[in-house]
Amino acid sequence: MNKDKLLNQLFEYIKNYNTKGSKLVDFKTPGKLKEKLNLSILPAGGDENSLLADVQNYLKYSVKTNHKQFLNQLYSGENLPAFIGEIIAALTNTSMYTYEVAPIATLIEKELINKMCSIAGFENGGGTFATGGSNANMLAMMSARNKILPSVKQKGLQLAPVLSAFVSNQSHYSFDTAANILGIGSGQVYKIKSDTSGKMLVSDLQNAIEKSIEKGETPFFVAATTGTTLLGSFDPLDEIAKIANLYHLWMHVDGSFGGSIILSKKYKYLFKGLEKADSFTWNPHKLMNVPLIASVLLLKDKHRLMKNLSDLNTDYIYHDNDLEEYNLGKQSVQCGRRVDALKVWLAWRYYGDLGYEKRINKMFDLAAYAENKVKSSNQLQLLAQRQSLNINFIYKSKNQVDSDELNLMIRENLMRKGISMVNYGYLNGKVSIRLVISNPDLIEGDLDEFFENFIAMGNILQSKTIQNSQKQDVEKCLIVENHE
Ligand SMILES: Cc1ncc(COP(=O)(O)O)c(C=O)c1O
Repeated sequence: MNKDKLLNQLFEYIKNYNTKGSKLVDFKTPGKLKEKLNLSILPAGGDENSLLADVQNYLKYSVKTNHKQFLNQLYSGENLPAFIGEIIAALTNTSMYTYEVAPIATLIEKELINKMCSIAGFENGGGTFATGGSNANMLAMMSARNKILPSVKQKGLQLAPVLSAFVSNQSHYSFDTAANILGIGSGQVYKIKSDTSGKMLVSDLQNAIEKSIEKGETPFFVAATTGTTLLGSFDPLDEIAKIANLYHLWMHVDGSFGGSIILSKKYKYLFKGLEKADSFTWNPHKLMNVPLIASVLLLKDKHRLMKNLSDLNTDYIYHDNDLEEYNLGKQSVQCGRRVDALKVWLAWRYYGDLGYEKRINKMFDLAAYAENKVKSSNQLQLLAQRQSLNINFIYKSKNQVDSDELNLMIRENLMRKGISMVNYGYLNGKVSIRLVISNPDLIEGDLDEFFENFIAMGNILQSKTIQNSQKQDVEKCLIVENHE
């Protein structure tokens, strides 16, 4: 097959796959999708002609996360320079362990880490790109563990004291996973209560630490969140830092979602106290719209990662020479590591600090607009005061129709019809639809369209439910809608 022709066709297809008016997703159940695509057929003899059709199918049945009605996740939208960076990283296909195989990529990563550290207030800090916010949080917990118990690196935890960690009950589940992986135990991650706006209650934190000490445990780690997953809340970093200091805990700040908001001078106040923390997770793949994965762990002590991980027998890869300090692999739990820094760097050069600041501010304006839409609608109800970019709301059910069921059906129907995607969580045990603004290229009209779709679907399902007042008929609404 002619390679140029194939690449041209591919690029043409990619360029046009998300043109205006296209469906957000061509949803098929797993069985139907399997039937359509014959994915299990991996032929003994290859078929060059299958490539274009396979790519077309992949694009056809994928969710278009840069579609203006994709409001489901904490990332969305598009970013041309970062997209190009992603392609170039694959084209040049190198690995971030040694300078000799990744010279320019190494320098770019070091520049970015320095810049991000300086924004975070870690003047002599260091850090690394990780495989996502969850793993960056784990590296932070590992750094804290190895700082308080340096012998763990070689001897393990067998003779170690029982450690305890503290996060808010709004924090991300990755801390439980991290404690599990690190031998601390997910049960040793204590969940601190939060107030109605989702911020950690610092008085509760202090009580929990005291209780843990009374039990003979060794508190070692507290994580605050800047941008919680459901409510988009910011924990009071300054106050948490005081407690961390008092009890000699490692303080981590999880900015996996909201970290990029620090790029806005207008909203930087939300990070007051960050400079007192020991580490900070910041995911450019969320609010900087860089394609997944682009995630960074920053540390105040630039030697910490090396202390965690070095002194391994690696002379077959890391050679003693004047390039030593440029061999970033010694600070990473990965050996082979993608060049994620390139796409962030290209995008940052393209937009500049000011461009990114504008993008963040625009998202806040859009979130305020969406919140007002909810407040001014008599068919919608705001469930929590907006903290940043998340709007938690429901369609108000009437005549004893179960609110949770109705709202879940609205969401599900909109998704299965490829109209809009929005996610949900639970607030005080009740379903809360969570609209997230993570795409600065949206316009108010896109949000108008979303709410019109949501209310229209609510009206249809509400009246169907009233007509069929038995519960089993309520459940059928999804299927009825799906086949219309
Ligand atoms: C607050 C918070 N922390 C951590 C994570 C995990 O980040 P990642 O998806 O990059 O692993 C998320 C993901 O949404 C998050 O919202």
